[in-house]
Amino acid sequence: MISNKIKNGLIGNPSIPGDKSISHRSIIIPSISNGITNIYNILKSEDVYHTLNAFKNMGVQIEEDQEKVIIYGKGLNSLKKPTTDIYLGNSGTSARLLTGLLASQNFESKLTGDKSLSSRPMKRITEPLSKMSALIDTTNGSLPLSIKGNKLNNATLEIKLPSAQIKSGLILAALNTDGQTKIIENNITRDHTEIMLEAFGADIKIEKLQNQKIIKINGKKELVPKNIEVPSDLSSSAFFIVGALINENSQLKISNVNINPTRNGILIALKKMGAKINLLNRRFLNNEEICDIEVFYSKLNGCELSPEIAKLMIDEYPILSIAACFANSPSIFRGLGELRVKESDRLNLIITNLKKCGVLCKVNEDDLYIYPSDNYKINSTNIQTDYDHRIAMAFSIMGTKLGGLNILDSDSINTSFPSFIKEFNKVGGRLTWKKL
Ligand code: S3P
Repeated sequence: MISNKIKNGLIGNPSIPGDKSISHRSIIIPSISNGITNIYNILKSEDVYHTLNAFKNMGVQIEEDQEKVIIYGKGLNSLKKPTTDIYLGNSGTSARLLTGLLASQNFESKLTGDKSLSSRPMKRITEPLSKMSALIDTTNGSLPLSIKGNKLNNATLEIKLPSAQIKSGLILAALNTDGQTKIIENNITRDHTEIMLEAFGADIKIEKLQNQKIIKINGKKELVPKNIEVPSDLSSSAFFIVGALINENSQLKISNVNINPTRNGILIALKKMGAKINLLNRRFLNNEEICDIEVFYSKLNGCELSPEIAKLMIDEYPILSIAACFANSPSIFRGLGELRVKESDRLNLIITNLKKCGVLCKVNEDDLYIYPSDNYKINSTNIQTDYDHRIAMAFSIMGTKLGGLNILDSDSINTSFPSFIKEFNKVGGRLTWKKL
């Protein structure tokens, strides 16, 4: 894909697809509940289809039409041994959540993935599961993963890493385990799994302490279906928001965006940088907070962000880094170690590509420093993405200012936002599709 300079700002109402995290959960949870769930506005992207196909492969009846996906759940123990290996493509969320779920089934299964997913760490989920007696072959610590499937025992598990995927995988394992499993979380991470399970009648109790959250699940309680409307994805919206902030004359309105407080760090960070962003019509949809976001071109200041806020916006650092390049002072983003184990080593790709764009920047331990300028001299127009969708979209936004950036392997965008080019060009973007 080639990203060209834009002329008169970004103006209009782009349509942002459903939230990726909620979409995965809106397949997994209904598939093990007892009855029929209609899901509206689900994200139709490669990652989500990998989850959906996994459940079809395990015998769940799933139908789709233009408007909705319908899942016919048959209960906690209704999944069947998959007929083939379960291929999860690029999707870390599918891999971590399914590992937990499959560990407590009475059949064997094998998870596989693409090159990127096959290099991502899985011990973070298999080790705590082994404390519940899960039988998972993790010879090399990543996919492919062979899961024996057996009766798990309940346990008290403490999660040290800030990871909603680990937490959610453990919760899914606990749902099919006798007695009470206690999960102690030492960091704030996105809580879509807990919110949806509460709505589906799971026996889940949550205690929030100052620096900890304790989740108690009494397993073996059948889940009762509830229709789901998936809100628009804030992480996908962030590319449009930053695009508007850094291009003069821009004015965008994005409707029905999820602003769950465990996910809204990007809005806090951008506001701290002086962004003109209004959150209108705040309301709740399926117990998830949503709003309409209005954003205007703004003169941004640099800022320093602590490791604490990283947990609320870990997926947004690629695009926040682009915003920082057009601020009037340097930025320091601290505590970004987890960025090294995402769909790519994002910390490395952020600085590699920023340097190609002529931006002065550095990483010191886990902290990223960006020193903006108002006159970038491009060293290379070829943006290396390592098939990472968020790197590809973030540097497409960089291209709106610098022009002529070749975003390599940009079909990765289909993992989370297949309509990105169309929606972006609809509001004034100038992205040209070309396989590079
Ligand atoms: C996700 C959790 C995050 C995030 C990912 C989606 C989820 O990963 O980066 O894009 O849906 O639970 P971690 O929980 O591993 O940080």
